[in-house]
Amino acid sequence: MAIERTLILCKPDAVSRGLVGEIIGRLERRGYIISALKMMQLDGDKARAHYGEHAGKPFFQGLVDFITSGPLVALCAEGEGAVEGCRQLMGATNPLAAAPGTIRADFAQSIGRNLVHGSDSVASAKRELDIFFADNDYVTRKHDLHRWIFE
Ligand code: RTP
Ligand code: MG
Repeated sequence: MAIERTLILCKPDAVSRGLVGEIIGRLERRGYIISALKMMQLDGDKARAHYGEHAGKPFFQGLVDFITSGPLVALCAEGEGAVEGCRQLMGATNPLAAAPGTIRADFAQSIGRNLVHGSDSVASAKRELDIFFADNDYVTRKHDLHRWIFE
């Protein structure tokens, strides 16, 4: 399994409920390295670009309205198989279907307020990270590589 980068968003509900530390803590404890991080409020154009795959679906406008409704925390998590691993930590899209112990099962109730976003493939991660971060937003954390098993 290769070292991957994935985009994680602590959505506006996570910020307003004070769960950003909880979410980031779970990523860190799994061993993922945070190589870029920012708090921001998305504008409509960025939100529609980020969720472009859902354009035209009945929930699209509500999703854009929600993700732009307040500040969010965007970060890049890196690690072995980070895309799938972070999705595991998040749990299923609908918190009622998410496994206990996942972020969405432990802290969320509804699909429209499910606290966290994680890229669903390496290709999506690349596309999405480029919406949120410029090349010089990333720090080098070579000194942390001992966290990874191949070291
Ligand atoms: P995300 O993109 O936010 O990480 O979530 P996901 O991959 O687990 O789910 P996705 O299918 O990409 O949907 C994106 C977000 O849209 C909202 N949604 N609402 N009402 C609905 O049927 C519905 N379906 C999806 C959710 O907030 C989901 O996170
Ligand atoms: Mg998705």
